[in-house]
Amino acid sequence: ANDGYKLWLQYNHIQDKQIRTSYQSNIKRIIPFGNSETIKVALKELELGLNGMLGSKVLSGTKNNIESNSLMFGSESSLNEIVKNQLGNAFNEINDEGFVIKTISIKGKNQIIITGKNDVGVLYGVFKFLRLLQTHQSIENLNIIDAPKIKVRVLNHWDNLDRTVERGYAGFSIWDWHRLPDYIDSRYRDYARANASIGINGTVLNNVNANALILTPQYLEKVEALANVFRPYGIKVYLTTRFSAPIEIGGLETADPYDAEVIAWWKNKVKEIYSKIPDFGGFLVKANSEGQPGPQNYGRNHVDGANMLADALTPFGGVVMWRAFVYSEHDITDRAKQAYSEFVPYDGQFKDNVIIQVKNGAIDFQPREPFHPMFGTMPKTPLMMEFQITQEYLGQSTHTVFLPKLYEEVLQSDTYKKGKGSTVAKIIDGSLDNKVLTGIAGVSNIGNDINWTGNPMLQANWYGFGRLAWNPYLSSEEIADEWLRSTFSNDEKFVKPVKDMLLSSREAVVNYMTPLGLHHIMDTGHHYGPGPWVSDLSRPEWNPVYYHKADSLGVGFDRTPSGSNATAQYAPQVASKFNNLETCPEEDLLWFHHVSWDFKLKNGKTLWDGMALKYQEGVDQVASMISIWEEAKPYVDEERFSDVYMLLNIQHKEAKWWRDACLLYFQEFSQKSLPVGVEKST
Ligand code: GCU
Repeated sequence: ANDGYKLWLQYNHIQDKQIRTSYQSNIKRIIPFGNSETIKVALKELELGLNGMLGSKVLSGTKNNIESNSLMFGSESSLNEIVKNQLGNAFNEINDEGFVIKTISIKGKNQIIITGKNDVGVLYGVFKFLRLLQTHQSIENLNIIDAPKIKVRVLNHWDNLDRTVERGYAGFSIWDWHRLPDYIDSRYRDYARANASIGINGTVLNNVNANALILTPQYLEKVEALANVFRPYGIKVYLTTRFSAPIEIGGLETADPYDAEVIAWWKNKVKEIYSKIPDFGGFLVKANSEGQPGPQNYGRNHVDGANMLADALTPFGGVVMWRAFVYSEHDITDRAKQAYSEFVPYDGQFKDNVIIQVKNGAIDFQPREPFHPMFGTMPKTPLMMEFQITQEYLGQSTHTVFLPKLYEEVLQSDTYKKGKGSTVAKIIDGSLDNKVLTGIAGVSNIGNDINWTGNPMLQANWYGFGRLAWNPYLSSEEIADEWLRSTFSNDEKFVKPVKDMLLSSREAVVNYMTPLGLHHIMDTGHHYGPGPWVSDLSRPEWNPVYYHKADSLGVGFDRTPSGSNATAQYAPQVASKFNNLETCPEEDLLWFHHVSWDFKLKNGKTLWDGMALKYQEGVDQVASMISIWEEAKPYVDEERFSDVYMLLNIQHKEAKWWRDACLLYFQEFSQKSLPVGVEKST
């Protein structure tokens, strides 16, 4: 049994007879309007889902013989007047990708219509409808109107052409470059189904540390084959481009964005791509960051580089996602300040089809980071969010960490850049500064493991990313609920405790790795396990000691005006909250302050005792995750149960490793004994 392969699209037979018969009586026939590839895909999905959940084959019909209680689906242009008249002005409330699901009446009988302005909206509506059944909700008197709030909703695959995956912990890349374009792995379709089911509408196929070869005709053929598979599912393909590609595969001597030959080379390359892939999405670029080439190699800047590519893409409607993940070895006072310093001065200078992709925090995908100070600071430039779904610094695919909790925390953070209520979500969905181009990216955790993500629980992070990309205001609790029901079971005795387990798992990892605002103390290079002592790497800002700055007086990075003054990059209200020891949230304390070991925390404990107890709390939280999972056994198939169980036990062992290693190390500075309640290392 490979239930893990089916992700959240299990479509398990509904055992509850009352629920099942109520669904059956509402769906006697399914009737597609139209026959585009997308409508065909939607029909197939409905058949798969309904046959699975209802256990009987649902008949299909045609739009000319609407008999009793049918489920009809098709885009606006395919609807007849009787149907249209009953939809009121629902179409005015949705955008191009939105949908309407409504119970209407024809010939005195209730009918369900799923529609949208375009077929892809219909497909999203179909997946929403199936989710209602998967989560055992009523389908009587439906009236659902929904549309994505963010335009570009993409996964970033850090996949290399040799199929290794940078920071990937679920096997090798699912892109079988060797056998493409002629061999189409059925997994590509399942990947597209899964993404469409949560509204993801784009995929960047290759690593941000890019290989220029992806732009050669030989590879573009393969990319085209993938784009053809994804198209019916509303998924566009994007590529990461290496800035020096004109040299590496174009035979030019330079990649200077002011050079006429370079400009022409990119224009031709883009033309070539669109001749194969007319709906190609555009480019993602990591330039002048961690050794990647970029415009600065030629004395030019980010604007010069991004705009040159944007110009080439403009005739075809493509976009440039230009990353702000930059830091340099020349200014080492505080890495957290660098992206802001480098980008904010360019506000308003980028072309309309450029969007700046900013990581959620200013360092790098830590278990907890305060929101990136760039959010809200470039009102004339679209900024998109980059979250990491793969768990580079969070126990990789071994540790169960429910990331929607982290995403929600960031999206709900108030930047105050335009006064109270200027949340990150409002910057990302464009509402704060009236942006047309909006986007969100998630660094994928997908590989060719049978269960896709290495650990079945971490499928929830792919799912949750997609759901928040669609609607950044959803709550992590709602997401956990939906995911558990569609993936495992609707039994309350399962859902409730396991939901609590998921929702607490993020704080657990913070507690046993980096409590109270500590960060980047993972062992270096692979970033797995503790390494707060590491201090011998060639670049200072790669060393954990640079981040925690522990000494005999205390611990933490002073980012207030007495230190690096990174807090000045935030709005004054936020800066003053962070600057003041009284008001700085304790969860960010050591991110912003160097604090004495005897500092009194809100609970009356000293910093040292409080820190030690947090490490212990993290260990205890993982122990209770294990007990919850043990109780969940009757509701989960054997394979997924034991996979998760083994992984949780490793997580527990490693949580203790983190606690012991960090406390032993920091104790050298604090010279204090462990408080009561903290277990001794064994
Ligand atoms: C992190 C990660 C790198 C990655 C980089 C990036 O530093 O460790 O592997 O290339 O982020 O986002 O560009």
